[in-house]
Amino acid sequence: MRIDVFSTKEYDRAFLEAENASAGHDTRFLAPRLNAETAALADGADAVCVFVNDTVDRSVIERLAAGGVRLIALRCAGFNNVDLDAAAEMGIAVCRVPAYSPHAVAEHTVAIILTLNRKIHRSWMRVREGNFELDGLLGFNLHTKTVGIVGTGQIGSVLAGLLLGFGCRVLAHDPVPDAALAARGVIFCSALEELLGASDVVSLQCPLTPETHHMIDARAVAATKPGALLIHTSRGAIIDTRAVIKGLKDGQIGGLGIDVYEEEGDLFFEDLSNHIIPDDVFARLLTFPNVLVTGHQAFFTVEALTEIARTTIANVTAFQRDGAPVHPVPAPAAPATASGQATQTG
Ligand code: NAI
Repeated sequence: MRIDVFSTKEYDRAFLEAENASAGHDTRFLAPRLNAETAALADGADAVCVFVNDTVDRSVIERLAAGGVRLIALRCAGFNNVDLDAAAEMGIAVCRVPAYSPHAVAEHTVAIILTLNRKIHRSWMRVREGNFELDGLLGFNLHTKTVGIVGTGQIGSVLAGLLLGFGCRVLAHDPVPDAALAARGVIFCSALEELLGASDVVSLQCPLTPETHHMIDARAVAATKPGALLIHTSRGAIIDTRAVIKGLKDGQIGGLGIDVYEEEGDLFFEDLSNHIIPDDVFARLLTFPNVLVTGHQAFFTVEALTEIARTTIANVTAFQRDGAPVHPVPAPAAPATASGQATQTG
């Protein structure tokens, strides 16, 4: 099969090539994002491989179909950027990588909590300039503090285990409480406000759905324990950034650590260091000493990239052999599986 890989970074190429060595597909690595202007690059390909910020709407899918593409292989879990109706109409199969490493995201979440709390990002810069003062670097012990986890699925449950290891009191909020976590001492709160009001650190690990869009709005900020740290490594639009900025200015939110941002599609994964960032909301975030931003890198470990490449190549090979990928994204008319939830994800 000829696979045209869009939005290729060096790391994508390295991991996919290693995995494809035994499979022997004809891979072509393309730097541009897939969109209406670039879709023609895939003429003659059997499959395209795309990531979170590629545009796979109806016009792109029609162009891909005209060029002979029969499979859209997402190298991520979310498929919100794919018009599944159009793909079904054009007879193009869609597949994804449903899970690659909850540990990668949970460990990065802990890294953000520790960095923000102990001001490692600030002390690193100070020490480089020969400033060894401690003023402004005061943190708190995580031990015995209350951490609230919103969403205890694959990532949230790993995170809960890590935080229990620190000796934290762990609260959780999830429409489907996890009995095994409860047995380990995690306390489930039926109301989000209860968790927000009691937690010294709040971490969001739920998917982006219509229900969770701007879940952290002005009301939620007001319900938060004054001075709490808010950590977000799920999907940007769960937070209303403007409401959180107001909370930071008021001191209601004691610190913000994010790996995702609601308008990240215009920023993340690119080197914009020679450009003016036009997003004033994002630029405002960067001015706070108590805000830490990483650019959607929580998933970015050797193990996760290995698993992404392994599953992607397995999907393509199964499609070639059996006519169906291992992890299909069901067409909208088909009944959705539990893991086929229409969410945005890393
Ligand atoms: P999952 O599907 O295993 O777990 C999600 C959990 O959230 C489920 O237990 C679900 O019941 C719960 N949930 C749904 N609606 C909720 C609500 N309104 N309030 C509270 N909980 C709710 O998903 P997984 O694998 O744990 O991933 C979670 C999220 O992490 C993804 O949806 C994605 O947005 C994000 N992610 C971020 C990455 C990154 O690199 N920053 C990488 C991978 C995922």
